[in-house]
Amino acid sequence: MADVDVIRVKGGVRLAGEVGVVGAKNSALKLMAAALLAEGESVITNVPRITDIALMGEVLRRLGAEVAFEGDEVRINVPAVLHPEADYELVRRLRASICVLGPLLARCGRVRVAHPGGDAIGSRGLDMHVSGLAKMGADISGEHGFVVAEAPSGLHGAKISLDFPSVGATENLLMAAVLARGTTVIDNVAREPEIVDICQMLIAMGARITGAGTSELTVRGVDQLQPVRHASIGDRIVAGTWAFGAAMTRGDVTVRGVDPRCLEIALDKIQQGGGSVDYGPDWFRVRQADRPNAVDVRTLPFPGFATDLLPMAIGMAAVADGVSLITENIFDGRFMFAEELKRLGADIRIEGHHAMVRGRANLSSAEVSASDIRAGAGLVIAGLCGDGVTTVRAVHHIDRGYPDFVADLRALGVEVERAEAPADPEYGF
Ligand code: EPU
Repeated sequence: MADVDVIRVKGGVRLAGEVGVVGAKNSALKLMAAALLAEGESVITNVPRITDIALMGEVLRRLGAEVAFEGDEVRINVPAVLHPEADYELVRRLRASICVLGPLLARCGRVRVAHPGGDAIGSRGLDMHVSGLAKMGADISGEHGFVVAEAPSGLHGAKISLDFPSVGATENLLMAAVLARGTTVIDNVAREPEIVDICQMLIAMGARITGAGTSELTVRGVDQLQPVRHASIGDRIVAGTWAFGAAMTRGDVTVRGVDPRCLEIALDKIQQGGGSVDYGPDWFRVRQADRPNAVDVRTLPFPGFATDLLPMAIGMAAVADGVSLITENIFDGRFMFAEELKRLGADIRIEGHHAMVRGRANLSSAEVSASDIRAGAGLVIAGLCGDGVTTVRAVHHIDRGYPDFVADLRALGVEVERAEAPADPEYGF
């Protein structure tokens, strides 16, 4: 799929029907990395068919693993000896490749991974990954754009307190600790459902971990782990995208394949906006009869409101009755999306990490451009509230996180097409 693809949607539609979500990108990516911790074949199931997963497959291949995708499964055959180096070309395309740092250091005693740098949603530091691994005995340096970590005589247990419950740092330190000598206690860890998922996979591989889903993880190191078969949890962010889509379009959408407890605050916000929510163990239904009411939202680490749903919250605020205050506390660049949403007529004033959004009854269709996965999906959903056809450019970002996005939109009643954007004669793209 080309970088110049666009999605065109016709506004004035009500999302109605049923969609299923498959495995969570942000779980499956890390489960694939966790497979590196055991020699032999691990199988991850319920894996989404998205670009980021294909790229992670490529990362693992370059490290020496055999990777085969079949349906919603990925088989990862890990050799005894890995090549612990991830180059910039791949890390640049898949920031999440940084999650091989912990497992490679644990398995190989040394690792060299390109520093991913910042991206469209923010500066995205690595200091907590680095200082935690250093506490476990790694010698870490940065050279020529790479993070180089060495622990020739192996990692040891440590007491680590994170400054902030970072998802990536929690995962890297956890994957390093499972094979370290002794006990590691990591405090102020992330409690995201994806962290619980990786803990469950590691425990099934033979790791000794307690505290999954709480703020403190205790890991007693073991000598080796066994390969496993493990199913990824459903994608709460894709599910949440449809939930907000239903609320914004006065729709009626049932989403299957996700535990609604992973979306408690998001669904609560939809209810505060006047929507009704029904749910069961692995599904929920959002119905919205009238224009949503304005609702204030602040993003926070789980169980707070997910930053990845910020574009959807701003989208709902843009068409809500009243003024909403939306606060982003995780990433410094997320409001790039809001600037783009203004092209659709949204009334948004940004001050620091706050956005004041004055809702309008309808948006005005226009051509806009996606800067990241969630911004892309958010713009398409906002386009459904437009007065004509909205064209979203750079939709390869959406392909990174949403399998079958266009087909799902169509199933929910949207007139939508995906096409190649006409080449720009001046710049040749
Ligand atoms: N941070 C530091 N230092 C560190 C680590 C993090 O300053 O050592 C900062 C980051 O710069 C950021 C904040 O802490 O401002 C949160 O970062 P975190 O490490 O929690 O996020 P992440 O692991 O980089 C994952 C998801 C993101 C999701 C965030 C927050 C993956 C691959 N990515 O990122 O998902 O937004 O957690 O929940 O799991 C997406 O899927 O579109 C996406 C961006």
